[in-house]
Amino acid sequence: MKTALITGGAQRIGAQIAQTLHNNGYNIIIHYRHSKQTAETLAQTLNVQRSDSATIVQAELSNLDDIQALSQSIEQLDVLVNNASVFYPTAVEEVNQDIWNNIMGTNLMAPFFLSQSLTAALKKTSGCIINIVDIHAERPLKNHAIYNISKAGIAMMTKTLAKELAPEIRVCGVSPGSILWPENEASLTDEQKNKMLNKIALGKQGDATDIANTVLFLANSPYITGQIISVDGGRTLNQ
Ligand SMILES: NC(=O)c1ccc[n+]([C@@H]2O[C@H](COP(=O)([O-])OP(=O)(O)OC[C@H]3O[C@@H](n4cnc5c(N)ncnc54)[C@H](OP(=O)(O)O)[C@@H]3O)[C@@H](O)[C@H]2O)c1
Repeated sequence: MKTALITGGAQRIGAQIAQTLHNNGYNIIIHYRHSKQTAETLAQTLNVQRSDSATIVQAELSNLDDIQALSQSIEQLDVLVNNASVFYPTAVEEVNQDIWNNIMGTNLMAPFFLSQSLTAALKKTSGCIINIVDIHAERPLKNHAIYNISKAGIAMMTKTLAKELAPEIRVCGVSPGSILWPENEASLTDEQKNKMLNKIALGKQGDATDIANTVLFLANSPYITGQIISVDGGRTLNQ
């Protein structure tokens, strides 16, 4: 039985990745930060489908001690999905060190140190790391400088770790386009949403299953490493 850890796996895209990998025979470790209730409910659902197949683990990923504790709690691992992320606008003139540390810590530092501390476990299983990137790693999204930088970093991390950790561990990425509208401080007006939709060749948002199925494909593709697949409905054709 293979085991997958999904960071930020309690809700939205992360929860769908957990569900899809579980449907395909993986045992699941759902990492969460604040969404304890949602993580517990998802784990219960998966455990009803197959007993003892899902557990939950809490960690604040911008904190290195939490990352180490999370890694040490894991005995066996085949797939690490670095999915957790923060996304909100940052006007260049308003960026301070707290904002920088929050976004870069969660989106870039955590995936690196989690990969580092889980390397030994992943080597034992000839496992893989799958990073959830963003099409804006290559073409910047206006007003989101620090987010763009963090995602450009994780794109390079995917390639450099694929080289460093081969041949025992594969490292790949999935770059979503517009899948689920952002919430809270990053939420968009209807006008902004329509403007975005008009740039997608397929004329609609993707679904979380589109990302999860690509993660599954990469997890099950033993001769692919260092590749990042865009899942964006053709959005990058119009950028
Ligand atoms: N949504 C889209 O359309 C879209 C587009 C492009 C790329 N992406 C990428 O796809 C991935 C998933 O997107 P999403 O929209 O589903 O993500 P999301 O809802 O914004 O965030 C996923 C989870 O990340 C966790 N998280 C945030 N900061 C954390 C921290 N400091 N420590 C630990 N956990 C933290 C949160 O867990 P808790 O709830 O437990 O606090 C949250 O539920 C992300 O990497 C995102 O950048 C998404």
